[in-house]
Amino acid sequence: SVTSETPAQAQNTTASRRMPGAIIIGVRKGGTRALLEMLNLHPDVEVAKAEVHYFNLDENFRKGLDWYRAQMPLTLPGQVTVEKTPGYFTAPLAPARMWSANPAVKLLLIVRDPAERLVSDYTQVLHNRLQQNKPYQPLEELLLRQGRINPSYKALQRSLYHQHMARWLELFPREQIHIVDGEALIQDPFPELQKAERFLELVPQITPDNFYFNTTKGFYCLLSEGHDKCLDDSKGRPHAPLSNKAFQKLCRYLWVPNQIFFRMVGQTFKWC
Ligand code: A3P
Repeated sequence: SVTSETPAQAQNTTASRRMPGAIIIGVRKGGTRALLEMLNLHPDVEVAKAEVHYFNLDENFRKGLDWYRAQMPLTLPGQVTVEKTPGYFTAPLAPARMWSANPAVKLLLIVRDPAERLVSDYTQVLHNRLQQNKPYQPLEELLLRQGRINPSYKALQRSLYHQHMARWLELFPREQIHIVDGEALIQDPFPELQKAERFLELVPQITPDNFYFNTTKGFYCLLSEGHDKCLDDSKGRPHAPLSNKAFQKLCRYLWVPNQIFFRMVGQTFKWC
């Protein structure tokens, strides 16, 4: 894969910026960056490096489809363009907007235990706040009100996967959405990438040799054409503390929503 124009592309007038054939729609903190970077190992995949936030943010959506296409990488005919914006999954208007832009677009959704996801989501917001020298409440204060789960906590709402998934399934057929198991991607990326290649109808090109476990990072890193690449320090960082008692409350709260999600997608996951 290339990130800028290669000599072949420079000579070939057919290299252009095209609409994505596939979009990673979420979930936030599910492993969306890892999935995008891993798909990019495939020679026929080119990715938009930065999150585009077109279908979820009005200020970008107003700029129109030509603006959207201009955010995409250069590709040759036959290559698949992929962008990832985790905010799409929970954005109420994103499914209809995406459908009208291209009803054939393939959707990738990487999910993760929604309780772990919530803690990771909080940790990310906390880091952003601290960088701006802004204070932030401890997680337990946001998650619990008088000892009970606070249903208006935004990060909790983002973990109610069935509510968001229902909106996508109103428009997109189930077969057009491929669900990647985020925990499985962490444990052993190759099998998940094989399934994704198949879904994207790509000639299998990614191999187990593209991955090695980096003991310092504690995660798999990528190998491609002699280059070694780990995700940055914001991926796979220690989570903010949460008492075991509060975490168990969260797990109990999420049990029913999780069962609804499993039934909705016809797949189950080993979540807390
Ligand atoms: P944590 O930081 O909570 O561990 P996203 O890119 O959607 O923000 O997801 C971030 C998550 O990707 C990380 O969450 C991490 O667990 C997960 N991840 C999956 N594979 C990874 C890899 N190979 N390297 C680093 N993080 C990975």
